[in-house]
Amino acid sequence: MKKSIWIVVIIIVAGIITGGLSVFIKDFSHFDSGEYIRDESKVTNVLVLCYSRNGNTEAMAKEIAKQYNTELQFIEADAYSRDREGWRNAGRDADAHTESPIEPMVYDMKDYDLVFIGSPIWWYRPAPPLWTFVKNNDFTDKKVVLFSTFNSRFKQEDIDEFSNLISSKGGTMVDHIYIKRGRAIPVFQRNGNYVIKKTKRLLEENEEKWNN
Ligand SMILES: Cc1cc2nc3c(=O)[nH]c(=O)nc-3n(C[C@H](O)[C@H](O)[C@H](O)COP(=O)(O)O)c2cc1C
Repeated sequence: MKKSIWIVVIIIVAGIITGGLSVFIKDFSHFDSGEYIRDESKVTNVLVLCYSRNGNTEAMAKEIAKQYNTELQFIEADAYSRDREGWRNAGRDADAHTESPIEPMVYDMKDYDLVFIGSPIWWYRPAPPLWTFVKNNDFTDKKVVLFSTFNSRFKQEDIDEFSNLISSKGGTMVDHIYIKRGRAIPVFQRNGNYVIKKTKRLLEENEEKWNN
């Protein structure tokens, strides 16, 4: 075979291996942000709710919870496990805007005025578990801040649709804070440590706005 053909073959094979490895590292791994421990002697009117599959939005949630010393409730969705089947389910449901069971389905929010609710962006919008949660819960008189992490982009029209859903459940979405982690190749992608630092900065910049 000619040298130039070999070069093309090597480039294609390297591309396939890099692509496969990227997906494996990116969508099958988990960032461990450690345990969040709250000082239960102090009561706050702030709640943090979060769905996270790979740990990045979870890191953001814990940082927000630390800042406010809040209750932190994770939303679990077994259908989106960190294996091939879970990954396929995630892509399919996010693309089709369908949903799967979550745990907890209902959460008592009567003691809270400000609710942070977070998720990764899947197919340009918050992941399906967040939509299911909002549809099944009462947000009457709650101020809601959506938070999210993603690689490259979300669609504002989908965020507006989420805000409308919050309104239909009695709440008001006052903000969307988000962290862009960068494109798929893992060496260039920002991990949970960056998410933690960036969350601190976002909270400093915006806190006053939400507390008024
Ligand atoms: C099924 C699926 C769909 C995704 N769709 C998008 C997308 O539309 N836009 C984007 O920027 N990132 C997308 N991502 C990347 C995630 O939003 C990103 O890795 C996020 O930080 C993961 O958060 P987590 O670690 O809390 O699960 C997608 C990831 C998955 C698994």
